[in-house]
Amino acid sequence: RVQLVTEAVLAGLGLDVSRKRSADSHKGSYGHALIAAGTQRMSGAGLLCAKAALRTGCGLATWAVPASLAPHLLGRLPEAMLAGIADAGHGDWTHVAAGAITALAAERDALAIGPGMGRYAEDDQWLREIWEGADCPLLLDADALNMLAEASDFASWPRREAGTVLTPHPGEMARLAGTTTAEVQKDRIGHASRYAAEHGVTLVLKGARTVIAAPDGRVYLNPTGNAAMAKGGSGDVLSGVIVSLLAQGLSDVQAACFGVYLHGLAGDRAAASRLTDSSLLPGDLVEHL
Ligand code: APR
Ligand code: MG
Repeated sequence: RVQLVTEAVLAGLGLDVSRKRSADSHKGSYGHALIAAGTQRMSGAGLLCAKAALRTGCGLATWAVPASLAPHLLGRLPEAMLAGIADAGHGDWTHVAAGAITALAAERDALAIGPGMGRYAEDDQWLREIWEGADCPLLLDADALNMLAEASDFASWPRREAGTVLTPHPGEMARLAGTTTAEVQKDRIGHASRYAAEHGVTLVLKGARTVIAAPDGRVYLNPTGNAAMAKGGSGDVLSGVIVSLLAQGLSDVQAACFGVYLHGLAGDRAAASRLTDSSLLPGDLVEHL
């Protein structure tokens, strides 16, 4: 029941991996991704995520940040639109209204939230507002997953109609499942598939041989990627890749499998372009997408 992700398996999922952009297409043909990510201390997470989304082919990307941070990011990613959302003036997400994010999401095709957000713990109802209010496909990563792990009533949240993808690393998976990282690593497939089935989400459990578990019980293992990618920021790039594919109309399972595969392949090519596997930067992954 566990399948290795290959181009044949991706084709079996209904994906044409060699698809070219049609000659008469335009930016509107490729979707608009919304990335809510980055804070004063970790703006790079948002930058990597939004840049990876554009490199993966979405027609437009909006990078949403707390308004007081926005002036400092002007021009850092000229191809993205920068949306400053009203905050308390400290460049963090603490006083950003969830409704402001869902309002932006209403006019876009997919939303990724969490990388470098630095907001969690008591904020589970804030996340719930986004979970219920954003009617496009949704990707939760990093601090959004930490908020989710704090939500004691998550089991009673309504199932989302649009696709939902969660991308925890083993530590985040442990928090979600209420266990330890060591236990997660002992049974990666078990943890990923149980969580996906119980909560009706597509779960991407990251690390060497990333596991992709679909809500219907299908499980995939990714063969691409390498230890040169073990550096802060690689996960933020993955979130950008997957949200871009969601914005382009792929289903949650398609976007997760293809996204993880592409991200690892970019990592393999980027690593091969360097003298050692220590010197790769997550930004290099973006250039090899
Ligand atoms: N082999 C293959 N892939 C690997 C390997 C490896 N040995 N090591 C790491 N990777 C890949 C993972 O599969 C994943 O896609 O690199 C990515 C790492 O993602 P994260 O663990 O999320 O790391 P990071 O990018 O640093 O996350 C940034 O998010 O986890 C939060 O707040 C935390 O600051 C952190 C931020
Ligand atoms: Mg991460």
